[in-house]
Amino acid sequence: SLGALEVHWELDSTSSELQRRGHAAKDFSIVLAETQQAGRGRRGRSWLSPPGLNLYLSCLKRFESGFAALTGLSLAVGVIVLRALEHLGIAGAGLKWPNDVLVAGERHAGGKLGGILVELSGEYQGPCAAVIGIGLNLRLTPALREQAGQPACDLATLAGGTPPDRNHAAAALIAALVEGLRQFERDGFATFSADYARRDLLRGQPLQLSGALGAIDGVGAGVDGRGALQVRMADGSVRRIDSADVTVRRA
Ligand code: BTN
Repeated sequence: SLGALEVHWELDSTSSELQRRGHAAKDFSIVLAETQQAGRGRRGRSWLSPPGLNLYLSCLKRFESGFAALTGLSLAVGVIVLRALEHLGIAGAGLKWPNDVLVAGERHAGGKLGGILVELSGEYQGPCAAVIGIGLNLRLTPALREQAGQPACDLATLAGGTPPDRNHAAAALIAALVEGLRQFERDGFATFSADYARRDLLRGQPLQLSGALGAIDGVGAGVDGRGALQVRMADGSVRRIDSADVTVRRA
């Protein structure tokens, strides 16, 4: 049976709320909030979460496999978000490894349309749980755009001015999540890789990577069956990048 679906007016963070439930939370529990006081992004950044405009959703999913088998989960969630958007008739978004949902800057100003934060707990090779947090921009105010600290985009822009109905967007996201997480549990990331490749904004792009590995220049060459980023180096060799602590920029 599926976990509860809860809609709150205000939480510190939908992901923190599910973390606090721990073992008490059923598989596929989903929490939405109208606004978050302490919305969290990757690498300790905050996620601006004012009421009335956007979607803030977290889902708890348990896996028997242990998190050794969950590499690629956050990439799969990116594919799942794009499936939901396509279901709403919204095209034009793509994925930037590891898990940004972006609009490339050709037709519009471009920028980040949504963010995905996957937090794992439990055992490396035993029962574990993922709290999957998704923030999706439906309509950004000019003030919010400015505060975002990085180029941001919204569904209203992609849809030609009017954002999709927020309930429709939430329903599409939840349906895609439930179906997609079952697919991931059953078949792993490998079955998402063709879908990922079609939406991979880094493929063929000159890239600059920086972080734990030092600085690397190369060209995006897709992701492998486990979700690692492949980068083609000047000498033609391909490096696989696993680390989540890498910043990727288009050179
Ligand atoms: C990123 O840094 O790109 C990830 C942002 C993830 C934001 C979502 S909003 C719902 C959930 N609750 C949080 O506190 N964060 C995630």
